[in-house]
Amino acid sequence: METAHNFLQRVLTHAISSAFTELSSTETLADVTQCEQEQFGHYQCNSALRLARLLKLPPRAVAQKIIDAIGLEDKKTFSNISIAGPGFVNFTFAAEALSKQLQTMLLDEFLGAAIPKKREKIIVEFSSPNVAKELHVGHIRSTIIGDCLARLFEFLGQDVLRLNHIGDWGTQFGMLIAYMKIHASDVLNGAIATDPQQLLIWYKAAKKTFDADPDFKKTAQSEVVALQSGKPQSLHAWKMICDISRTGFQEIYQLLNVHIEERGESFYNPQLKSIVDELDQKGLVTISEGAKCVFLDGFKNREGEPLPLMIQKSDGGYNYDTTDMAALKYRIFTDRADRIVIVTDVGQSLHFQMIFAAGEKAGWLDLKRTRVDHVGFGLVLGTDGKKFKTRSGETEKLIDLLTEAVDQARNMIVERMPEASRHEIDHLAKVIGIGAVKYSDLSSHRTKDYTFSYERMLRFEGNTAVFLLYAYVRINGIKRKVGADIAELMRSEVMCLAHPSEISLGVHLRRFGEVLQSVAEDLLPNRLAEYLYHLAEKFNAFFRDCRVEGSAEENSRLILCELTAKVLKKGLNILGLETVDRM
Ligand code: ARG
Repeated sequence: METAHNFLQRVLTHAISSAFTELSSTETLADVTQCEQEQFGHYQCNSALRLARLLKLPPRAVAQKIIDAIGLEDKKTFSNISIAGPGFVNFTFAAEALSKQLQTMLLDEFLGAAIPKKREKIIVEFSSPNVAKELHVGHIRSTIIGDCLARLFEFLGQDVLRLNHIGDWGTQFGMLIAYMKIHASDVLNGAIATDPQQLLIWYKAAKKTFDADPDFKKTAQSEVVALQSGKPQSLHAWKMICDISRTGFQEIYQLLNVHIEERGESFYNPQLKSIVDELDQKGLVTISEGAKCVFLDGFKNREGEPLPLMIQKSDGGYNYDTTDMAALKYRIFTDRADRIVIVTDVGQSLHFQMIFAAGEKAGWLDLKRTRVDHVGFGLVLGTDGKKFKTRSGETEKLIDLLTEAVDQARNMIVERMPEASRHEIDHLAKVIGIGAVKYSDLSSHRTKDYTFSYERMLRFEGNTAVFLLYAYVRINGIKRKVGADIAELMRSEVMCLAHPSEISLGVHLRRFGEVLQSVAEDLLPNRLAEYLYHLAEKFNAFFRDCRVEGSAEENSRLILCELTAKVLKKGLNILGLETVDRM
């Protein structure tokens, strides 16, 4: 379905080009935005001022000419078109036309979103924790944001590949294997099992020993060589270690209900040599202090010296940069991605700008054919304003952070619904607790640091998961109470909005597709969160002002309720939240 914004832009662009035939096609493109204040209109056209300068005419006269050139049929969509201030044109939807559009939207599986004409292959790379190292809250942020973007593209009908670029290769394995051979050989030979927490403790101990003991350092380095040359015993130990870490990652994905395909750094290992060779042959490599580097225009360090991408260390080893170059090439040529979205903390943004620039220089990345986005996010802060730490410090399992949210949600529910069954309470606690963690993350602007607070995320009022879930519950309550057959109503009844609160809710519902489009563009989930928050508020205002049950408008209003419920549920699902029918 065409969004209201796209409809207006199309109609107005056409009106401008027919009113002013002297303009070129780039000059006629209409600038349409939503009105800030509903009493003036729903959308506005801002083009008259720009055109007035081009055409050397008074802006209000240009505005009038644009209005005159709108086709009669299209004009009927609006109850009011007026010129405001220096030459803005305001448009107010006619109640009848709006009702009709909403009815179409109700039966549309995409709920009014414009589906791209060409199905694109979109890679969303997210989560990407490191084996044996600490899984930190940043990885949870990446998981929540990445899952949301993937869900959005999936809803918009794209072909999405969700990739987990886990750090499962590198020198840390040499240290760890060397250490475990001495201190945990029965784990390596499979005699006893262990968990990711224990692995982290060994990893830290191994690192300490590595820094302090030159003999151990040598052993660790030879373990790296053995692993890289594919010695079966080393590969076996490596696989063992990855498996242990994986159980920890899976536990979290399961609780968050996130699906993701693992394609870690090790996957690209066999390709690294030829990546370096190719860049070398293309003349892009400079040797700097023994290391192979790619220098790129415009990238400088703090001292203003050129900052290279290092693709092979002086000892011959490959690193993070090499792997990312291999991943870029693979995703472009083998996966044939139209768009690549990578979700990590903002600290890595320079790294990816350099990878993309090097990809262009190598002739792999053509920005006209493949779109690349690094989606950066800020730190997670504790309520003390410092970098977030779990209660007992570093070694606490991250999963405890999530289960704590579930526990706090459970306490809240038990208090409010003493009659609920154990089973229902458990279910609600999970939906609300996990939903609250996700929502509080997604509703903040991702590039800013955000404060993690159980107390705040579980509030009933304000822009919170609970507030939105409750709005959904309320609509279901109304439907239950009236007991009408909604499916039948949707088929046989006509929606007919009249009250200002109904219109206001209706116009907002109509904008769902627009907000999805803008999130797909700018990759800012907080826009969707904010949209849903306003939706809930507008619904509450409608429900306060307009009687549903037993009113003359009962059927029409029930359909409006149904559409609100659908949009709310779909919007929350895109954010990764489940809904409940009662709470
Ligand atoms: N494993 C990395 C980390 O924990 C994130 C990986 C990001 N993706 C990439 N293609 N480099 O910081």
